[in-house]
Amino acid sequence: MGKHQKVVHPPQENIEIKQLWNHLKTDLKDAMELFSPAFLVPVIISIILLCIFVLRLYIRWNVPCKSQKRLEGKTVIITGLGRATASELAKRGAKIILACRNQKRGEAVARIIRNKTGNEDINAYYLDLASLRSIKEFVYEFNSREPYLHVLINNAGYLGPKATTEDGYERTFGVNYLGHFYLSYLLKEKMKKCAPCRIVNVASSAYTIGKIDFEDLALTNYNIYKAYARSKLAQIQFTIEAHRRWSPDVVLSYAVHPGAVSTDLLRNWPGLKGKVLRMARNFLFKSPEDGCQTIVHCAVGEGLRDVSGNLFTNCAIVQTKKNIREKQVCRKLWDLSLHLCGLDDEIEKFSSESEDMEQNHNKPNPEQESKKSK
Ligand SMILES: NC(=O)c1ccc[n+]([C@@H]2O[C@H](COP(=O)([O-])OP(=O)(O)OC[C@H]3O[C@@H](n4cnc5c(N)ncnc54)[C@H](OP(=O)(O)O)[C@@H]3O)[C@@H](O)[C@H]2O)c1
Repeated sequence: MGKHQKVVHPPQENIEIKQLWNHLKTDLKDAMELFSPAFLVPVIISIILLCIFVLRLYIRWNVPCKSQKRLEGKTVIITGLGRATASELAKRGAKIILACRNQKRGEAVARIIRNKTGNEDINAYYLDLASLRSIKEFVYEFNSREPYLHVLINNAGYLGPKATTEDGYERTFGVNYLGHFYLSYLLKEKMKKCAPCRIVNVASSAYTIGKIDFEDLALTNYNIYKAYARSKLAQIQFTIEAHRRWSPDVVLSYAVHPGAVSTDLLRNWPGLKGKVLRMARNFLFKSPEDGCQTIVHCAVGEGLRDVSGNLFTNCAIVQTKKNIREKQVCRKLWDLSLHLCGLDDEIEKFSSESEDMEQNHNKPNPEQESKKSK
């Protein structure tokens, strides 16, 4: 190097950038090591487990029925084998009729409940809700053997592939809704005599996606969940209309969404979806003992007289979609149901009764008239 040659130092700024870049590179390297599969897999699994845990907490969240009301001297019909509901009401001293289509199984369940609760008044009667004839025979037998009926719990349910009832109606609609409509209709006079009485329709929040096409009751493009949702919508509209027609006789009506409950309801759902749902129900869904609490609340709870005609979940009212409560729609379904059950005479009867009521309503009130003239 010559004597007069100048030494050129790299500027201070460049050194700092270089150092910074080196730091960044080592940090990135460390971070990449952290995100290696050995680290990432357990993190992802933990996040999934946490999500399932939170979902499970949400689905299984449950409000128990607070009422301590005893039911000695009261008769309750439960359709299907609603074992948990029957046990809860048996503990309170009610006489329970399990109305089911497998009488052997019904009797076995009745025996279990008798042993568990010490209540001897638990009996199984034969009822197939997929047959209007069977419903009629059940009501005949019930009326000839039992003097009272205080609570009717329309609990039985079908969810499965396309099938028809004995009378040729789409099965999900026929069992979940029409059969229960017919049963309630035939038992109404008895309940009126035993008033105050309650009808509890075990529906479902699935109703929100339900649609009733009066021109396509056979549901041409059948889909299991659509059929189920339609039947549950019909049950809720039945609850609303039954309240309008029967609450003056103190026969009160309630609909219940029990939540997702670990039962046999999904047993007929075919394919992978059915398998996944059946697997999930075991650890995600509520126990039947928790699931029956709102049904018990609507069957026995105090202070529910003024809230007849509503849908309940977790022992509280939930607002239904507004358009489903329209008078015209509920009435149309009611009249169609009477027709499908061969009760056309009843359509006329109610029409003339309501006409009389309307005429009386429009007539001038003699007391008011005389006040006016004074
Ligand atoms: N589980 C849930 O997550 C859930 C959610 C919302 C609403 N629900 C509603 O809760 C109610 C009770 O269902 P679940 O969950 O307890 O189901 P489940 O264990 O399958 O009980 C349904 C019952 O209905 C009976 N049944 C079916 N078809 C019948 C017919 N033609 N005649 C007489 N009985 C018949 C069944 O008897 P067989 O054993 O002889 O078939 C069974 O005992 C249903 O209305 C359902 O829609 C359930």
